[in-house]
Amino acid sequence: PPQCSLLGLWQNDLGSEMNISAGNNAGKFFGTYLTKVSATHKPIAVSPLRGSQQMGNVKQPTFGFTVTWSFTDSTTVFVGQCFVDDKGKETLQTMWLLRKKVDSIEDNWQATLVGTNNFTRLQSRGV
Ligand code: BTN
Repeated sequence: PPQCSLLGLWQNDLGSEMNISAGNNAGKFFGTYLTKVSATHKPIAVSPLRGSQQMGNVKQPTFGFTVTWSFTDSTTVFVGQCFVDDKGKETLQTMWLLRKKVDSIEDNWQATLVGTNNFTRLQSRGV
């Protein structure tokens, strides 16, 4: 049975695309993220991501990664698990926290958004 791999091009249910282009034998990985949506009105640009996953003979590993947005001052962390079905189709089920930058501690209460995304593999188009 195939092992679920994070490497490659993925698209989520919002239409955002990520390219996980490199991983190492310590479970760290790197890539780029192009979000389809934003909480800001700034022009969206490709942003870097870095994360780590459980290693070893894990068929459906858990992982986490951070996107440090290049076009605005917020940060998103994702945690999730890579699932593979009996036809070999892979899905990433994730939850995320988006931390917005607020101007003062009085606004701290409204600084964090939470949600879920699921990702499936995208053929041919890069980010
Ligand atoms: C921002 O608007 O502050 C930066 C972009 C945030 C995009 C969020 S991250 C969670 C959710 N999943 C996506 O693919 N895009 C949005």
